[in-house]
Amino acid sequence: MNEKEVMATEQKFMANIFSKRPVVLTKGKGALVWDINGKEYVDCIGGYGVCIVGHCHPKVVEAVKGQVNTLISCHSSLYNDVRTAFLQRILEIVPKGLDKVLPVNSGAESVEAAIKLARKFTCKTDVIAMMGAFHGKTLGALSATWDKKYREPFLPLVPGFIHVPFGKAERVEEAITDKTAAVIVEPIQGEGGVRIPHDGYLKELRGICDDRNVLLIFDEVQTGFGRTGRMFACEHSGVVPDIMCLAKGLAGGLPMGLTLAKEEIMSSLKIGEHSGTFFGSPLVCAAALATVDAVVNEKLPERAATLGEYFKVKLEELEAKYKIAREVRGKGLMIGIEFRFDVYKMILRSIEKGVLLLDAGRNILRFLPPLVIDQTQIDKVVAVLDLVMKEEESERLSGASSYQND
Ligand SMILES: Cc1ncc(COP(=O)(O)O)c(C=O)c1O
Repeated sequence: MNEKEVMATEQKFMANIFSKRPVVLTKGKGALVWDINGKEYVDCIGGYGVCIVGHCHPKVVEAVKGQVNTLISCHSSLYNDVRTAFLQRILEIVPKGLDKVLPVNSGAESVEAAIKLARKFTCKTDVIAMMGAFHGKTLGALSATWDKKYREPFLPLVPGFIHVPFGKAERVEEAITDKTAAVIVEPIQGEGGVRIPHDGYLKELRGICDDRNVLLIFDEVQTGFGRTGRMFACEHSGVVPDIMCLAKGLAGGLPMGLTLAKEEIMSSLKIGEHSGTFFGSPLVCAAALATVDAVVNEKLPERAATLGEYFKVKLEELEAKYKIAREVRGKGLMIGIEFRFDVYKMILRSIEKGVLLLDAGRNILRFLPPLVIDQTQIDKVVAVLDLVMKEEESERLSGASSYQND
């Protein structure tokens, strides 16, 4: 099939739930991908933050190939050597105190498990989440997610969820009642627009949750595995949650999530109360083991910190050069530029020029490149963005589109 046929067939047969970009990808390596016509792109979408170790990392490929030839499926009611090796390895790198692991298949599932766990352990029902939060789209996770365009078509959601302003610990304290089981928060909001709270926010939340006997859940689905310049974003403030959610880059691109908790909390879940057919399958565990090793051995968190700083400075130079940009925000290789209008056209123009970019909301361009991206590739992204912003600004100034519209 050629490009047009692939697009038409996918549109015809697949549920129409994604806002599609006009690219047919067929190959990836590191921070680069190629389309069906052989055109190369620097990938700042990275599978929506999945490609931490880059596309087709050789160690992940080797581990998956080896496991495919050995044992693909092994339900967690039976023991498995690779799963065991992965569990030992992951517990070496997560914040101390999180000592039990519940493997799941996705970010939303890790949040679902966290919510059920919090309810079960505390025998309370309610959850405080943040305005601007994104925790996934299954019903429980959606109840914690903020954006009404995701929530409203599916009301009523799980009862007992309320949202308070992100970054204001006192608002969490005011919202706690004798029914509150947990507070759930992303250390940095991703989908909400790359929002970084003030230093000390997570510590304040920790203090409040301890005082009021409420569990603290960190959703590190997007911020985990080195993305923000530390292995986990909570390490920037030295705060350990009671429950942590992980997914995205964990298994090198294969679908996997984890819910981690302190032992006494996880032990409140009894046999059969929460499980899934694919939880902890040997294939994803092999991929995840190789991925974690690559993140550690290749010092990807440190790399994200250094290259992220370089990238951010370059983007700040563009922000200073063009009036259409409002603000650059980011930590490590999780960066956003807020514009004064919808960024969709700039995304399409970047695609034409060989760079894949992501949005966060309507007016924010988001960069979640593989952490193996190099300086030359970052320079290419910046050069393309320079051109795209120039085109956009001159069009808006000449009145082709309004300057402050949308
Ligand atoms: C912070 C956060 N939590 C949860 C999710 C949901 O993950 P998934 O799409 O794997 O269900 C996402 C996805 O973007 C996320 O960014």
